[in-house]
Amino acid sequence: MYQALYRSYRPETFKELLGQEHIVRILKNQLDTGTTGHAYLFCGTRGTGKTSTARLLAKGLNCLAPQGQRPCGECAACRDIAAGTFVDVVEIDAASNNGVDNIRELRESVNYPPAAGRSKVYVIDEAHMLSTPAANALLKTLEEPPERIVFILATTEPHKLPATILSRCLRLDFHRVSEEKILERFVEICRERGIEAGEDALALIASNADGSVRDGLSLLDRCAAGAGVVTRTDVLELLGMCGQEVFLDITQKVLDRQVGQALLLLDEMLALGKEANQFARDWVEHFRSLLIIKYVERPEHVLNLSVENIRRLQQQADAISLSEIQRCIIELSAALAEAKWSPKPRVILELAIVRLASPSEERSQPPSAPSPEEKPAAPKAAAPEKTPAASAEKEEIELWRRVMADERISKMTRTCGSVLREITGHLFTVQVSNTIQEEQFRKEEKLLEEILAEHTGRRLKMQLLLKDSEIQESFI
Ligand SMILES: Nc1ncnc2c1ncn2[C@@H]1O[C@H](COP(=O)(O)OP(=O)(O)OP(=O)(O)O)[C@@H](O)[C@H]1O
Ligand SMILES: [Mg+2]
Ligand SMILES: [Zn+2]
Repeated sequence: MYQALYRSYRPETFKELLGQEHIVRILKNQLDTGTTGHAYLFCGTRGTGKTSTARLLAKGLNCLAPQGQRPCGECAACRDIAAGTFVDVVEIDAASNNGVDNIRELRESVNYPPAAGRSKVYVIDEAHMLSTPAANALLKTLEEPPERIVFILATTEPHKLPATILSRCLRLDFHRVSEEKILERFVEICRERGIEAGEDALALIASNADGSVRDGLSLLDRCAAGAGVVTRTDVLELLGMCGQEVFLDITQKVLDRQVGQALLLLDEMLALGKEANQFARDWVEHFRSLLIIKYVERPEHVLNLSVENIRRLQQQADAISLSEIQRCIIELSAALAEAKWSPKPRVILELAIVRLASPSEERSQPPSAPSPEEKPAAPKAAAPEKTPAASAEKEEIELWRRVMADERISKMTRTCGSVLREITGHLFTVQVSNTIQEEQFRKEEKLLEEILAEHTGRRLKMQLLLKDSEIQESFI
């Protein structure tokens, strides 16, 4: 049976682990000197090697090779751990075993010494999913762990873990892996597997992996599933999107007032089967990245982009003014809102491009975005001057769009057609259409508050407003 690349290429030794040298150095040193701890916390973006490293450490603790060469990846213990059949390495997925009973069970089993190896290792994946009682129960064990028991907690969201747990673990932060390293590895893998792929295609895959080796491998897998040589166009097609360069390019054309060129580029993309609305959405996202890069010192913490992708945007961010970014975002958001109602979203996007790329003297004041509820009229060539209130409203539309794009939120909630009405004091008010939607939002209240906090940096409480009725108090 065919095994996915990311499964057949799990690092079996520290040497095969990409981009986490800072972690390898610490763990290797501890293994070599017999100074390993009893609780570790592996944090970092998905697909950067947390689970793989947990297994490597488990191997190192049980490997039969002489100290200094562990983990060897070849002895019976290493092989059994790789195959998942070693009795003393227990992997628990906290996402599905997050109850206090699961942890109680675990605490009982912790009392038995290792049966086959030197150390009994518990790998708790997605540790942030543990319920509070379960986390508390685990804490007791972490406080007084029996001899020869090692816990490795892995999580993509360490901030969700209680401080009491964090303080008892040795925390190791996994970095996104650089494009260069991913690309280098992919070239090797392709050679090994006899996959024919252009280097530019592999570079594009590596850049879309955005630092996650697993995402990159899955993408490579899908691209290689087709017949023949993997080309850059195949990759773009598969992604159903335009590469970052397309947005850099079209933005540059707009800034240089090359209307015709910009329209041609759009035409080229749509001819490839891209969807006009998606194009506009991704383009807005591009401007948002420029905005963040312009003002935030370490934008990689805010943007879900690799350092290399950020570097590529940097030059454009330096060259574009804030008012220009603002104008483009407003114009495109307006076009998006309008396109929703239009049978021909393409024309609206083209019109927006013409407006964006027109020299300012030809342009009257930038048209304001229609309010989200009212159906906008035909595109206006000129519009009344933008008021601060209108621009605040645009910001809210944009902010809410970003919140609703978050995949942690259920699809039901995302497709409700909710509107962020206002943010005042410690509240944000969301308008929904009916009581069913209201209930749906209440279910995800905490999550929504959390995501909004991630975007605004402020902890706000959600208040629901039923369309045509009074503000409903939200549950605590
Ligand atoms: N640093 C890396 N070096 C080499 N391969 C890696 C690395 N990180 C991930 N991979 C590849 O991705 C696969 C999955 O990695 P792993 O399960 O360790 O990621 P993870 O960080 O635990 O991800 P998640 O947060 O989704 O659990 C591995 O089998 C391997 O093929
Ligand atoms: Mg994992
Ligand atoms: Zn070994």
